[in-house]
Amino acid sequence: MKRSLFALVALFALSVQAAELSFKVKCKYLNLPISQQESRRRLLFQAKGVDDLSVVARLSAAPEYWVFKDLTAYKGKTLTLTFEGDEKALLLVYQADTIRDASTMYREEYRPQFHFSSRRGWLNDPNGCIWHDGLYHLYYQHNPFEREWENMTWGHATSPDLLHWTEQAPVLFPDTLGTMYSGSAVFDKDNTSGFGTKKNPPLVYAYTADRSEKEVQCIAYSLDGGMTLHKYEGNPVIDSHDKWQTHDTRDPRLFWWPPSNSPLKGEDKSSLPLREGWGGSGWWVLVLNERNGHSIYTSDNLKDWTYQSHVNGFWECPDLFPLAVDGNPSDVRWVMYGASNTYMIGSFDGKVFTPESGKHRFSTGAIYAAQTFNDVPDGRRIQIGWANFDHRGMPFRGQMLLPTELTLRTTKDGVRLVSKPIKEVASLLKPLYSCDKALNEQEANAALRTLSNSPLKGEKQKASPLRGGLEGSGLHLHATLNLTYATSAGLKLDGQTLIDYDLNRNTLNGQFYSPQDPTSLSLTMDIYIDRTSVEVFIDDGLYNYSMERKKSLGTPQNPAPKGFEFWGSDINVTNIQLDAVKSIWD
Ligand code: FRU
Repeated sequence: MKRSLFALVALFALSVQAAELSFKVKCKYLNLPISQQESRRRLLFQAKGVDDLSVVARLSAAPEYWVFKDLTAYKGKTLTLTFEGDEKALLLVYQADTIRDASTMYREEYRPQFHFSSRRGWLNDPNGCIWHDGLYHLYYQHNPFEREWENMTWGHATSPDLLHWTEQAPVLFPDTLGTMYSGSAVFDKDNTSGFGTKKNPPLVYAYTADRSEKEVQCIAYSLDGGMTLHKYEGNPVIDSHDKWQTHDTRDPRLFWWPPSNSPLKGEDKSSLPLREGWGGSGWWVLVLNERNGHSIYTSDNLKDWTYQSHVNGFWECPDLFPLAVDGNPSDVRWVMYGASNTYMIGSFDGKVFTPESGKHRFSTGAIYAAQTFNDVPDGRRIQIGWANFDHRGMPFRGQMLLPTELTLRTTKDGVRLVSKPIKEVASLLKPLYSCDKALNEQEANAALRTLSNSPLKGEKQKASPLRGGLEGSGLHLHATLNLTYATSAGLKLDGQTLIDYDLNRNTLNGQFYSPQDPTSLSLTMDIYIDRTSVEVFIDDGLYNYSMERKKSLGTPQNPAPKGFEFWGSDINVTNIQLDAVKSIWD
């Protein structure tokens, strides 16, 4: 690859030995060589008029992989890099208009094929989830410089449909107040913040700046539809460290109170029991995790915040939103939510959340720090969560799980959250096989295994999604498992347990689960299998879980059977439907 001309100056004048590199920015990206074997060392980017960034990076003269930095903000300026580490590693850094290894991007062996993952580096919590002007924005906790957590920055991706994502340049970088922890976004339609104009109202973001002394809450705004963010010069807007005597005050979640009932142009009001952020008199609400629970703050302008109340019992990443029970607009309840997917149901008057029931949970496994989108045009409450999957040494780590629609449903245990993949996911499915007869486990396995060896029309054998699956695209399996006379039964894939249902103990993969009809001997599953992940939705979304997909289990002498394998004696399987899931990166 062609190297740009850099003026290289080795500088040893600082107290810590540092190498320095200065050059005029002409290209889009800076490619940086990384090895996990190196220690982290301070790396400083300096250019006139751009905030100084100090990060830590494992620059290496013997790179395992490459990461990149978007140089848009530095275009035409002289950029100086100061690195408190190996000068030879710094010498390998180069600018270019392409990201190194871009030709294999999204086609890497363990790249999720229908889930969002970052091009390079580490990804955790979804942040600033919002629909605006035809696009969904997904910001996320990001370390652009390696595949482990550090240097918290807000990454950014956009999508027209919550499935096909385009990664954009990161928007929030560490500054003197700290690194950029989780937060959220609202559309300030009436320009209450004054950051925009009546004609061009801003998107406003709240985020936490974290440093070792304390965590404080800050705001930023965008006047170009969320592509670039400007930090408010009056930051921080909330500093509650002394009040709570804790370091842990973080993850502000913004929304407008009261949610409006007015449908958007052309929308059917009856399908829209509630919408946030659209007009009328009201105030902004910010839910903040403080010490051991979630606090409510209110504001008229998104800058000055007044503390109102606190609910104990939550840790990190609050969410608070209204939902109509069974879709009935006259029975709206509020859901208060924490990072581990536990929730309370209650009422909210704009200042105080009063729990009525909980805690409950509808989801277990890998999901963490999920957030729901503001301003979804058809009023759906759509959530996206993070899974810390390793992807087996790829130059990226972590992924988002499938976006799901949340609803409140009356169940035998009371009103509960239900979560199902958004309806758009159906557009990725390509039918492979279906059978409405009852098959015993041998018949079901034989049917699915035969398929697993036959490539799809036009596909090479190796690329067939069922051949061990890892090298292919994804799969979706819908089936009902009936325990006609068995006390336990389940399903494996390449030897990995996806379903282990015990009727005697009423456990599903070790968690208590009791179907709506307690006398039922059946379990209906919808399973989404990507290269490194599995998501299982049980009984139409009443319960779901997610797990990392294992490479084929077993030993070379005794390999686990390839493909799907239902197990249990005296069981049958009905309503089998198997689909390939198309890649979102094609
Ligand atoms: C949750 C979390 C948040 C914090 C962020 C930092 O995963 O700990 O509370 O803002 O990650 O990356």
